[in-house]
Amino acid sequence: MKLLLLRANPRKNGFTRRLTDLFVKGVREAGAALVERDLAALDIKQCLGCYSCWITSPGKCILKDDMPAILADILDADIVVCATPLNAFTVSSHLKNVLDRTLPLTQSRFEQSPKGTVRNALRFPEKWPKKIASIVVGAFKGDENFAAVRAMFSLYANAMSMELCGEIIRPESYLLQFSLAKPLTVKAIEAAYVKAGYELATLGGISPDTQRRAAAELSPDVSYFKKYSNIYWEHAVAMGEQSRDLDLLSRNVMSDVRILMQEMARSVDPVATAHLKTVLQFDFPDKQYSVHIAVDHGACAFTEGKAETPNLTVTVDSGVWAQVFMRQISVRDALVSRKIMLAGDKFLFARLDRYFPPPVM
Ligand SMILES: Cc1cc2nc3c(=O)[nH]c(=O)nc-3n(C[C@H](O)[C@H](O)[C@H](O)COP(=O)(O)O)c2cc1C
Repeated sequence: MKLLLLRANPRKNGFTRRLTDLFVKGVREAGAALVERDLAALDIKQCLGCYSCWITSPGKCILKDDMPAILADILDADIVVCATPLNAFTVSSHLKNVLDRTLPLTQSRFEQSPKGTVRNALRFPEKWPKKIASIVVGAFKGDENFAAVRAMFSLYANAMSMELCGEIIRPESYLLQFSLAKPLTVKAIEAAYVKAGYELATLGGISPDTQRRAAAELSPDVSYFKKYSNIYWEHAVAMGEQSRDLDLLSRNVMSDVRILMQEMARSVDPVATAHLKTVLQFDFPDKQYSVHIAVDHGACAFTEGKAETPNLTVTVDSGVWAQVFMRQISVRDALVSRKIMLAGDKFLFARLDRYFPPPVM
């Protein structure tokens, strides 16, 4: 099985790159032959729509660039994998250029496909059968965001007599940065990309289960998605050029107390808090930000701002709290050095770890 991977992501440290690297890991584990092409690094001009490749130079484009090598790669491959960011609800312009420029692989004769649609006959049918698979990574949440790109791949596959043998769609790409929030889900998503590569290389297709796992939702609803995305971009804008270091950006986002506190509230243990009714307030003077968490017999409500009568008030700078949260400094040290100040029922503070257990990593 020969695989051709067309990488169509211009950003070299973005999510398409990262997830496609995991897919490649799976292909390599399977020991399959893999050719990779970085489309953004190649000179591939836009189709002129002149039909020279049908009329005056059959099978050859008149443009002089790197496309003939890509056409040769496609002819040589059993499966073409297109990895692309979702841009304007479809593939990146780098991939769109390449798909347009595959016109020389077809000829001017029209025929009917097994699906009943009209298409152009293949110019090199002896090089077929072939399959195509897609890896599409987008930032937004919701299936409708990917409807056009799914339809495009389905129509293109049919037009080129290729079997569409796998579609790995990743929504909410930026939420992958919040790996502390859902560490197990992020790990399962990453594992699904490796498995997708392995399956494609060994079975010639990606199972529906693996596709579903790769597309697992990270945010429970739209308001959560918006809140986290807005915080992400707030940090990116504040960091300016430095935000190109995605690991640094991720660390800054993850130590944002708005996220830490929301995640803490989400991690409430209903059993440990089954008999508890209390209000915990957290004040972050450096950010002039307060939140309170109301625990009521296993349920938990998170509200921004101060509570009327909190049972415990924790006052701490946001940076110190982030370090405590990530187990980089001990609570005891922070208390002794008075970096954390408590008012009210201090016993509650001692039990925070039980009430809000850290995520299983
Ligand atoms: C020009 C442009 C258009 C985009 N259009 C969409 C879009 O229509 N839908 C979407 O979910 N994300 C869109 N995005 C966001 C990307 O899909 C997102 O950054 C994703 O992580 C893939 O890019 P990356 O590999 O560079 O990270 C767009 C990004 C750019 C730069």
